[in-house]
Amino acid sequence: EHESVPHEKTLDSSVALLNEGYEFIFNRRKEFGSDIFETRLLGKPAICMGGKEAARLFYDTDRFHRRGAIPKRIQKSLFGQQGVQTLDGQEHAHRKRLFMDLMTPERLEQLEGITEKAWLEAANRWIGRESVVLFDEARDVFCRSAHQWAGVPLEEDEVRERGQEYIDMIDAFGAVGLRHRRGRQARARAERRIAELIGEIRGGLRQVPEDTAAHAMAWHRGLDGQLLDAKVAAVELINIVRPIVAISWYVMFAALALHDYPACADKLRMKAYGNGKAYGNGAEAGAGAGEYAQWFVQEVRRFYPFTPLLGAEVSRDFVWRGCEFKEGTMVLLDVYGTNRDPSLWVDPESFRPERFRFWEGGPFDLIPQGGGDHYTGHRCAGEWLTIDLMKVSLDFLVNRISYTVPEQDLTLKLSRMPALPESRFVIGNVKLAG
Ligand code: HEM
Repeated sequence: EHESVPHEKTLDSSVALLNEGYEFIFNRRKEFGSDIFETRLLGKPAICMGGKEAARLFYDTDRFHRRGAIPKRIQKSLFGQQGVQTLDGQEHAHRKRLFMDLMTPERLEQLEGITEKAWLEAANRWIGRESVVLFDEARDVFCRSAHQWAGVPLEEDEVRERGQEYIDMIDAFGAVGLRHRRGRQARARAERRIAELIGEIRGGLRQVPEDTAAHAMAWHRGLDGQLLDAKVAAVELINIVRPIVAISWYVMFAALALHDYPACADKLRMKAYGNGKAYGNGAEAGAGAGEYAQWFVQEVRRFYPFTPLLGAEVSRDFVWRGCEFKEGTMVLLDVYGTNRDPSLWVDPESFRPERFRFWEGGPFDLIPQGGGDHYTGHRCAGEWLTIDLMKVSLDFLVNRISYTVPEQDLTLKLSRMPALPESRFVIGNVKLAG
């Protein structure tokens, strides 16, 4: 008996999910007037849910696990196999610590410096060119800085190709056909190459600084005291470099916001709102510098579509809000719709950085990079890093250069996952700010 939980009348909704993209769960939550509903996906029963309480439930590790929850096609393109995303319990906590140990304030500050420099060097190459594609330039900037920071060797003439490999892995996640195949091929190449690097580091053929991700992944020991399989170490090192390159999406979205909401751009330029170095852990940050930049970055992460949903599997039978969660059932959390939930956000469809002025910052309401706890749960290991590099990049776009935005198609199609405007944001007539 199905009490009050809406049940979608469909043989299978996989095609609808691909067609509706980001709005698939959100549309049905609105239609059913319910934060939870049952459907069928990939030929199996599935429960979809969204909102703050659903997010809190989703991160209850007594009730859900990740092992077996990620479809093979996503593992073969976006994530890789046997990485931290697929682990549970003690094993997950131990592996997660490996990632979180890389995210110290000192290490993050170092990456900020590397990235700031990479942006300025890139801008110098843009001078005199009629236009550049911002998304592609961000890809190259983050590709360079991610490799340097992570201790992964990279020749200058490889930057574009390596960067595009990481973009292809991400671009594949909501695709079928060519775009998906491209992501799989990119991953296969990258894993082979990085596994080889791990072998060289272990064999003493290559020295990498001790405080780098490459060193950490090569020498990490599991709970069993053994080094990771070289393939798995490669998956985890890619789990550092790939998502840094992914920040290109958020930089493009930030540029889109600056373009669509010029009043926000003005505020970012005004001293009173924290012009100048709006990032880092320096004293001026405590004095309120860059407050507006912080709100702006949070609003970009809330407002623009990147992660659509997250999946887990029910660990044991239980009932929540009249819905029977049966062991083994796939459960999807509506990330996109939770960030736009009208019961959490005033006027959610408006881009309004000021909403973060009095925001209390709960772990389950702003969830573009997952919810809950970074250490004990699966929340994104790179969330602080992402916010830092978005601020560095925003400061660059707003204060270090000037540019025009030529006529182009900047429409974000919510059916395309990940969302990417056709033109990838072209800017013209770039000048260094005086
Ligand atoms: C996990 C989003 C950047 C490393 C995640 C999750 C999301 C996410 C949604 C899954 C949360 C869950 O499963 O509950 C993003 C977005 C980024 C970003 C939108 C911006 C571009 C980064 C960066 C790094 C990183 C820069 C590292 C340098 C990771 C790792 C995990 C993860 C290692 C797996 C954590 C775990 O399973 O415990 N991210 N991320 N991410 N992210 Fe990110």
